[in-house]
This record gives sequence, C-alpha cells and structure tokens, in this order.
Amino acid sequence: MEDKGAKEVRGSWSSRFGFIMAAAGSAIGLGNLWGFPYKLGANGGAVYLFIYVILVFVVGCVVILGEIAIGRKTQLSAVGAYRSFGKRYSILGYAGIVCGFIILSFYSVVASWGIKYFFTYFGQIFTGQHIQNSGEFLTSFISGTAQPLFYHGLIMAVTVFIVALGIQKGIDKTTSVLMPMLFVMLVILAIRSLMLPNAAEGLKFMFKPDFSVLKDGGFGKVLSAALSQVFFSLSIGMGVMLTYGSYLKKDTNLVKSSLIIPIMDTVAAILAGIVIMPAVFSYGLDPTGGPTLLFVVMGEVFASMPFGSVIGCVFYLLVVFAAVTSTISILEGITAFFVDEKGTDRKKAAIISGIAIFLCGIPVALSFGLLSDVTLPALNGSQLPILDWYDYVSEYVIMTLGALAMCILVGWVWKPKVVIDEVTRYNDSFKLAGVWSFLIKYITPVLVLLTFLTSAGFIKL
Ligand code: TRP
Repeated sequence: MEDKGAKEVRGSWSSRFGFIMAAAGSAIGLGNLWGFPYKLGANGGAVYLFIYVILVFVVGCVVILGEIAIGRKTQLSAVGAYRSFGKRYSILGYAGIVCGFIILSFYSVVASWGIKYFFTYFGQIFTGQHIQNSGEFLTSFISGTAQPLFYHGLIMAVTVFIVALGIQKGIDKTTSVLMPMLFVMLVILAIRSLMLPNAAEGLKFMFKPDFSVLKDGGFGKVLSAALSQVFFSLSIGMGVMLTYGSYLKKDTNLVKSSLIIPIMDTVAAILAGIVIMPAVFSYGLDPTGGPTLLFVVMGEVFASMPFGSVIGCVFYLLVVFAAVTSTISILEGITAFFVDEKGTDRKKAAIISGIAIFLCGIPVALSFGLLSDVTLPALNGSQLPILDWYDYVSEYVIMTLGALAMCILVGWVWKPKVVIDEVTRYNDSFKLAGVWSFLIKYITPVLVLLTFLTSAGFIKL
C-alpha cells in the first residue's frame, strides 16, 4: 500500500532501478558529453582525470549521500527540507531554486542545439547532402533569432511535458528507457571511434599525464576546473538530488546509491571522451575547441566519416537524450518547491516555471546574435559573455557555496548523526560512517572553500 495523504500527492519512484536511472539521468548530461572531454584535454589529461576521480569520491559521493539522505528523511524538496532544521536554513533551498532557474536557462539553450543537429543529420540521411562547413553552420544557426528561440522553446516544452506527468509516469518512465539506450549508444559510438585510424592519439591526449599544467598557479586552476565539474556533473549543491531523494521509499540503500550514481556518471564521461577524442585526432582537428567541440568539431568528423550522417544522427540523439534526462531533473527541483510549499498543482507549477525559464533563457539564446556584444561581470573582475556568465554564476558561485553550506551544516551544526541515522534507519549498514563524517566535517568543506577562493581570484594555488 502507498502511504496516504501528502506523500501520495508527491509521488515516489516505482523501484530502486527507477530512482537510480532518474538520478543517473540527472547527473549524465551535457556536462559529461561536452564539458568533461574538453576540460580533460585542456587540463593535463590523466592529471585532471586523477584529480577528478579523487574529488568524485572525496567530495561528490560525500555530498550526494548527504543530499539524498536529507531528502528521504524529510520527504520534502529543498526549501522545506532545509527549513525543517530551522527557519533560517530555508535560504539554502531558495538559493537552489534560483540556481536551477539560471542553469536551466542556459543548459536548455545548448541542449536545444542538439535537437537542431539531430534533425539536420536525420535529414541528411535521406538527402545524401552534407554540411559543408560545420563552423559556419553553427554560427549561422546560433546567430539567428527565430531558430534558436524555437529550439529553446521546443526543449523546454518537452521538459515541461515530462515533469507535468509526475514522478513515476513522467520522470521515472522516461529515464528508465532513455538511460539504458544512452549507454548502448555510447558504447557503440566508442567502439566506432576506437576503430578509426590514429585513434590511439586521441586516447593519449586524454590519458597521458602532462604534469606541466600544475606549475605556476596551475594546480589551483586544475583543481577548480575539476571540482566545479564534479558539482555540475553530479547535479549536487543545489537541491536536485535532495528532491530526488525525497521521492525514495524506504527500501533503497542510500550508501550504495551514492556510489553507483557517481560511478555511472564518471564512466559515462570517460566513454564520451573515448567517443570524441579519437575521432578528433583521427581527422586532425583541434581537441581544445571548448564548447564548440560537440558541434563544430564533431560536425567535421561526421562530414568526413563513412556513414557520417547516420552516426551523427545517433550521436546527436544521444546528446538530446542525455540533456533531457538532466533538464527534467532541474525543472523537477523547481516544480517540487511549488507543489510542496505552495500546494500548487504539479502541471500548473511545471508549466509556469517552464515558461519563466524559457523567458530567462531568451538572452542566452540570442547571445550569439542580437546580443552578442553584451558582457556581464564576474567576481574576479573579468567580463563574460551571457552564456558563460549564467554558467559561472550557477556553477562556480551558487553550487559551490551551496555545497559548502551543506557540508558545514551537516558536519558541524546538525551533526553527521542526522544523516547516519537516516542511512541506517532501515537496518542498512554504513561501515564507512566514520570516514564519511570525517570527510564531511574536515576535508570536503576545506577543499570546496579552497576551490571557491581560487576560482574567485582571492588566492592562488
Ligand atoms: N549534471 C548534468 C550534466 O552533467 C546537468 C545537471 C542536471 C545539473 N541537473 C543539475 C547541474 C542540477 C547542476 C544542478 O550535464
């Protein structure tokens, strides 16, 4: 029997599998396919990977366990959950909501480019024509007005639709189908990439350690690139995982989940690198192309590859799947707030938030065209283009501070026992409870603080 009352209205996952797929779906997204491979390449290859993996365990798993446990304990989304510890803590939940708005506003824009590319490649399979110059193709698309807005609207509409359907019928069902497909596609594409001539060069670029990046203040840069990637990639620090945790039934082992989700996320990121880097090297292209890697560079790869249109079509479908399982999690974090706190009907909450985010994303969608001259200030005094600024404020500022605040509260104010009790409440064992407490009290917050100070330009490591 389902619990009666409020919980029935809130919904819950159909099974442990449903929860893991939804959470992994939230984690695995553009951050893995687009951010990770190029950051890996640009920050010393294996050196970055090594630091990244350590941070996934020392920070990622620690924070994700805290978030999921607080969610399950309180059965509430971020604002309510934090408020249950005291009124003043609700600000942490609100920060998460604001952060979600900002992230989704730019994330949906980049994700929407994936839809445009999917349609384009799909069309090419039939017309037999190819994009002539992929750089020009991207520029002419994103510097337009109507098309970027249309695709941005489309992805938000799909996101709203799934979230409006609810936890089980919407998010759980969608991610349980898309995530296994995504892994299959990733593996197939990785094998294809490894068979290309010169593939080994790409692997060398990704995995060969280049220690020179650590010199002259480089360590701080690599550290902050890796740590912000951990937060973004695992969707932690702003209450999304907490909200997903709040739909858990009692039978899910929180410790195992907090390991499985980050491991799946890291595997997906490395696989994405294995799809992209060998192809980039095989065709003699620039691997440090940053954000354009996923569209421009890969576009060139597909143009030169036999059956490039089919493979490109699958690749961009993968991008869209990965992105949508993430966009729905962000919108869910916001929708759940209105449902839990204001008693708003789920559909209405999803639609209204979706429209607000669409509007907030308009400047981003137009930032390569009409608004290409606009820049906004960062903490270290530099000026950033609109898309980078949205990314910066959410990823580097709010999520980092959000995770820091959570660690301090759980570690020092509410004490680790709060989480340990929740984890072991249904007789699950937590052998590493001591280690976890130590990490969340001393190690995680210090690392997060150091990184924040370095990336804000206050200190140099
Ligand atoms: N983790 C996703 C990615 O790697 C993006 C994402 C989804 C996210 N939900 C989030 C980022 C919540 C921050 C917060 O692409």
